[in-house]
Amino acid sequence: MNLLRVEGITKYFGGLAANKDITFEVEEGELLGVIGPNGAGKTTLFEQISGFKKPSEGRVILDGKDITAQRPDKICSAGLARTFQIVKTFPELTVLENVMIGSFHRESSSRAARKYAGEVLERVRFSHKADALGKELTLAGRKRVEVARAVATRPRILLLDEAMAGLNKQESAEAVEVVRDLRKEVTVVMIEHVMEILMPLSDRIVVLVEGQKLLEGTPEEIASNPQVLAAYLGERFAARNK
Ligand SMILES: Nc1ncnc2c1ncn2[C@@H]1O[C@H](COP(=O)(O)OP(=O)(O)OP(=O)(O)O)[C@@H](O)[C@H]1O
Ligand SMILES: [Mg+2]
Repeated sequence: MNLLRVEGITKYFGGLAANKDITFEVEEGELLGVIGPNGAGKTTLFEQISGFKKPSEGRVILDGKDITAQRPDKICSAGLARTFQIVKTFPELTVLENVMIGSFHRESSSRAARKYAGEVLERVRFSHKADALGKELTLAGRKRVEVARAVATRPRILLLDEAMAGLNKQESAEAVEVVRDLRKEVTVVMIEHVMEILMPLSDRIVVLVEGQKLLEGTPEEIASNPQVLAAYLGERFAARNK
């Protein structure tokens, strides 16, 4: 059975339909990529899946249970965690403490939360920065903390919203390795603009354009689809050539 099913999700902001009747499924153990031009509705989709926004229409089913519009912490308890496109690092807390905020979701003692946060930092290859303050980190570091904090809530499924955007080549190569490790243990849905990153990582890709699912398929199917090339790459090339 699929782990996540998004069914007919529609979201209106006033007259604008940021998501229109979006349906897809994610199998347990899978890595699903989500691509689409700026403003296509990718983050809005994540917001609704994770309970931060209420869908105008449609349902979100996690492991057979309807979690539509439940509180984000309830959804997190049910096993779904997300990262934020605009990273939310606490500047005056250390990296370890930032990650503990995630582990407190399931641990009640500071000791246990600290211990688990330390393990997560190992997993995401960031232990060497455990004592650095949030405000001392580069963007790549803050993005890593963001992932670690979500992982520390012990999700079965992890939604990553542009966890690699703005990173240089070296930094994103490292982040790719982190995701490769994580996906061995957790199902991942990942929004990412850079095709070169997403293609080799994904089992399947969903393409959103103007709030709608244009298509879904294997990376090979997506890369060779003329509609995707026009809708997605066209826009990217246009932006690059501005
Ligand atoms: N809270 C809001 N109120 C009104 N409009 C919104 C709100 N949030 C998003 N939108 C609009 O909904 C559309 C989809 O936005 P969204 O942030 O989901 O796109 P995105 O695919 O994540 O884009 P990007 O690649 O730039 O992150 C955009 O037109 C955006 O301006
Ligand atoms: Mg977005």
